Amino acid sequence: MNSKFDKTYWENKYIENKTGWDIGYVSTPIKEYINQLKDKNISILIPGAGNGHEVAYLYHQGFKNVTVIDIAEIPLKNLAEKIPEFPKEKLINEDFFDHTKTYDLIIEQTFFCAINPQMRNSYASKMKSLLNKGGKLIGLLFDFELTEEGPPFGGSKEEYLALFSTIFNIKILEECNNSIKPRFGREFFFIFEKK
Ligand SMILES: C[S@@+](CC[C@H](N)C(=O)[O-])C[C@H]1O[C@@H](n2cnc3c(N)ncnc32)[C@H](O)[C@@H]1O
Repeated sequence: MNSKFDKTYWENKYIENKTGWDIGYVSTPIKEYINQLKDKNISILIPGAGNGHEVAYLYHQGFKNVTVIDIAEIPLKNLAEKIPEFPKEKLINEDFFDHTKTYDLIIEQTFFCAINPQMRNSYASKMKSLLNKGGKLIGLLFDFELTEEGPPFGGSKEEYLALFSTIFNIKILEECNNSIKPRFGREFFFIFEKK
């Protein structure tokens, strides 16, 4: 389904320790978004969560309805070790495109850029199908040219608008002003609401 970027590809990245995307802590834009959420009972999905620093932050802030999906098993095991009390049934080793439950909020960070660019329409429609009525997809999307080289695969505001605006209300899609230093000026913060 996800061409060359399949389970083996990602599992090997973890085995070989080639996880340059992993910043080691919750990123500021996501942290600040989480901090302003009032209802801690909402259902949240983090697909392609990797070592899940955002997951740990949510959990320790009292959000207990958090589900994690990753196609690779290693980061899920890492998370289970880091937060032994995290419900095992919410650590799902599966291809995102095969998931079927629905959520109030989905958090995106360096997952979109990891998938084959040919899958972008499927990503957008899958995200829509995984959200409850009025649910939101929020997070970060890279702002650099899409080339053959990747992951990470880039994109532009125009492309993101074309991809998402027919099925989501674009609440925010703007240059991120609180990025971590290495990503400053290279990412958009967005909030898309299911139409
Ligand atoms: C670039 S990493 C980002 C990890 C994490 N979001 C972060 O910011 O540190 C992409 C992650 O998505 C996972 N992944 C890639 N394709 C996937 C798919 N089709 N379904 C679920 N997870 C996938 C990979 O295993 C990897 O952990």
